[in-house]
Amino acid sequence: MRPHVPASAAAQELSPALFARLVAWQRTHGRSHLPWQHTRDPYRVWLSEIMLQQTQVVTVLGYYERFLARCPTVADLAAAPVDEVMALWSGLGYYSRARNLHTCAQQVVARFGGVFPSTSAELQTLPGIGPSTAAAIAAFCFGERISIMDGNVKRVLSRALGFDGDLAQAANERALSALAQALVPPDASHDDMIAYTQGLMDLGASLCARTQPQCLLCPLSGDCRALAGGTPDAYPVKTRKLVRRHERWWLLALRRSDGAVWLERRPPRGIWAGLYCTPVFGDESALVAALAGWGLRAAAVQRQPARKHSLTHRELRLLPAVLNVADSQDSGRSEGRWATPAEWAGLGLPAPVRAWLDESL
Ligand code: ADE
Repeated sequence: MRPHVPASAAAQELSPALFARLVAWQRTHGRSHLPWQHTRDPYRVWLSEIMLQQTQVVTVLGYYERFLARCPTVADLAAAPVDEVMALWSGLGYYSRARNLHTCAQQVVARFGGVFPSTSAELQTLPGIGPSTAAAIAAFCFGERISIMDGNVKRVLSRALGFDGDLAQAANERALSALAQALVPPDASHDDMIAYTQGLMDLGASLCARTQPQCLLCPLSGDCRALAGGTPDAYPVKTRKLVRRHERWWLLALRRSDGAVWLERRPPRGIWAGLYCTPVFGDESALVAALAGWGLRAAAVQRQPARKHSLTHRELRLLPAVLNVADSQDSGRSEGRWATPAEWAGLGLPAPVRAWLDESL
């Protein structure tokens, strides 16, 4: 299917008005007190952008402060043990972000002498930094005249431009990116780039909401083609729907008399990669077989209430269980350790597993 590309002349026509209106709106109505604003330090901006990728601002605030208190510079982060980084991230989810964060800091030190590169093109060569994050860092810190393109911005711009190409197709995404780029004046100042970039985010997070956008208050309403057509809700067009797979995971806490439980590091890829977790079984018979292998009685297992946990592509039903074991019990498994409650507090654990252990053990 051919991508739908509206005449780019439309973007050229809109260009000066849209940019200038958004900049003016951001300065009077946008957010101005977020802790990662009013700095041009790429370390701070990068850290905030990675945390904000899949997480709401209110959640990020506390994590951001704690992270910076422990790792005030990129060199501190590069030198921190990975377990400590995972523990600082614990509860934010999408843990590949934390592993990439650590690797990225190490690469900034090793490849760039501890100084973040200043162009979006170079920033994209670092782990965990995609085109939109690279654009945000380059615009905020170095005034690069480049447009961010995250989910909110796609919504704002597809509405403003009346872009109805299906964004499930990469060619349409590229077309919208090219139009977004054409909206940025070639002589925009650094301060304008900061306000525009933040303005796109602020508008997407407030008035230009996915449902029931507040068009009457919008600074772009006079130009907005979606509004003129009477159907702002219909944008952006994206056909592919997310399908979540349902899975049941049996979690077994082997507990010694001092309260220590056996925790294993999850594999480097997949769900909860690299975090510590109790042994996980894909079905009940695997759990029973493991118990038999350790010479333990399945009847002594105490089952606990199931917990639901939703991930982007998976709906997990967690089935936790506890088994008290002798202090001399060998877990019978290789990669892992016994951890008391005080010890697991300092380890990177998946949020629902931490909640279960903290509440029930
Ligand atoms: N989401 C992504 N980047 C952001 C920023 N700089 N401020 C608020 N929300 C954001």
